[in-house]
Amino acid sequence: MTGTIHSLSNQDQIAYWNGEAGARWVAEQERLDAMMAATTIALLDAADPQAGEHVLDVGCGCGTTSIALMESVGPNGKVLGLDVSAPMLEVARRRGREADLSGLTFQEADAATASLSPGTFDLLSSRFGVMFFADPVVAFRNLRRALKPSGRLAFVCWRDWRQNEWVRVPVMAVQPHVPPQPPLAPEDPGPFAFARIARLRTILAASGFDAITVRPLNGSGLFGETLEEGVQYLSGFGPISRMLGPASELERARAMSALREALRPFAAQGSIMFGLAQWLVTARVA
Ligand SMILES: C[S@@+](CC[C@H](N)C(=O)[O-])C[C@H]1O[C@@H](n2cnc3c(N)ncnc32)[C@H](O)[C@@H]1O
Repeated sequence: MTGTIHSLSNQDQIAYWNGEAGARWVAEQERLDAMMAATTIALLDAADPQAGEHVLDVGCGCGTTSIALMESVGPNGKVLGLDVSAPMLEVARRRGREADLSGLTFQEADAATASLSPGTFDLLSSRFGVMFFADPVVAFRNLRRALKPSGRLAFVCWRDWRQNEWVRVPVMAVQPHVPPQPPLAPEDPGPFAFARIARLRTILAASGFDAITVRPLNGSGLFGETLEEGVQYLSGFGPISRMLGPASELERARAMSALREALRPFAAQGSIMFGLAQWLVTARVA
């Protein structure tokens, strides 16, 4: 579905996920899925989808979790993958057709304004797809209305970037060599917006959820089989690619060389594995 009305305040994120980020996630879909494989298992375990249930997969991206959820709910169940990124949804739709899962559909819409039938879903699930809302309470209220009174949610999001080795190591290496960035306020929409547990709880409670649980989920992910692969991969993504954006050619060369040196000890162990520090969140409709 296209032509959806998006909330104005999410426009920056919508442009970002339809531009460079969307293209990158499409290109790296298999690698990202491998990196998040253990996270996906933990999420599905917490979400506990049952045969015949109706599930809303928010920020479903290229559709990996939507397909896994559809396989769990079986032929009598339904899964709707919701996302703002047209290129990622194109991949999701293709993969859905290839998997021949008739109850699986996708909708291009902003979670804050998506028109969803009230009281429809048993479960709201998300793998790293709910931290990008300019006004999280507006978005979660809209999503909560689509849940049945007995509905529940389960999602994973990132803890603070300093606790995430995959961000901390490259950021510390690159930072001294690139122009200073306007600081990203910790609560701005973005991957680390829900790092602070008290804020996360307040947002969910204000959106009409209770029985909120927030558990640390620690893991590790593969960021490259070789040093060069790790350098290319990490420099092309989120925080590092944003830091490199305004850099001159010389600054970029220095930053890349510092990144290479920082990754070298990790690559020396065989492949580049970094720690992932996540929150696993569950809640029920209040
Ligand atoms: C970090 S990616 C995760 C994608 C996917 N869940 C995965 O794990 O592969 C975040 C996703 O959230 C989507 N997103 C961002 N803002 C959104 C919004 N307001 N409504 C719906 N989806 C949104 C992005 O387009 C992107 O696909």
